[in-house]
Amino acid sequence: MEDSIQVAVKYLRQTKHRVVALTGAGISAESGIPTFRGKEGYWRGRSPMQLASLEGFCENPQLVWEWYLDRRKKLEGCQPNAGHFALAALEKLLPGFALVTQNVDGLHHNAGSKQLVELHGNIRRTHCLGCAYLEDPGRQEKAGNFRCPHCGDYLRPSVVWFGESLPERAWDQAFSWAQEADVFLVIGTSAVVYPAASLIPLAKETGAKIIEINVEETAASDVADVSLLGTSSVMIPRLVMALEE
Ligand code: OAD
Repeated sequence: MEDSIQVAVKYLRQTKHRVVALTGAGISAESGIPTFRGKEGYWRGRSPMQLASLEGFCENPQLVWEWYLDRRKKLEGCQPNAGHFALAALEKLLPGFALVTQNVDGLHHNAGSKQLVELHGNIRRTHCLGCAYLEDPGRQEKAGNFRCPHCGDYLRPSVVWFGESLPERAWDQAFSWAQEADVFLVIGTSAVVYPAASLIPLAKETGAKIIEINVEETAASDVADVSLLGTSSVMIPRLVMALEE
């Protein structure tokens, strides 16, 4: 493992332009937030894939809202962990560092990361399906009152659902960062959800070294130049410490 850390540090030290990190649910697992494809991701027997879609919402908005309100409530007690803080520290150490997350939990922001794109939105916000009405932070009370006070249409959580396009500005920013990267870190993601996962081959094709941090092999492991097998709360701080030595 020490050898792999040293290889990763060598890549980071050789950086001329930009280091980009793509994070997924795994980085927040140790903050108490279940991953999507793990067993705990299921809610009342339904997978996130069934609940997080416009079809699922139109079929049963109350049920989908209950799931999101439940997640919002759980999030109130969750803090960023050592992995989130280490990425915020990396931003200070490496000029040009940028962070792209698929997570909607806002923990990177809470840990102090500034050069940050939230590709899939933020679970704390609510917006209207029909007009520009936005609540930030969104309401917490029990599901039921989820109509827009302006136009009467449904209110929904401000997250990207399956089958939906990503917010254009966020995607454009992430895409150009990935193209500019000399090093691209892939952290705590199964790398199976597109288009987010396509940033990995894009960065590789445009010359970046790929460093993966995960507790297991993933769809990105084949293109990784170095894999750091372990939890993100241990491996990212170790990487930062080794870089500072
Ligand atoms: P997944 O649940 O698919 O994958 C989580 C990854 O984290 C897995 O590869 C785990 O091995 C890894 N992991 C778990 N604990 C870890 C730890 N402590 N340290 C490091 N790695 C760990 O989550 P995502 O890849 O984020 O999209 O899923 C991508 C998208 O699919 C989500 O943003 C969401 C989801 O459906 C939308 O909601 C649009």
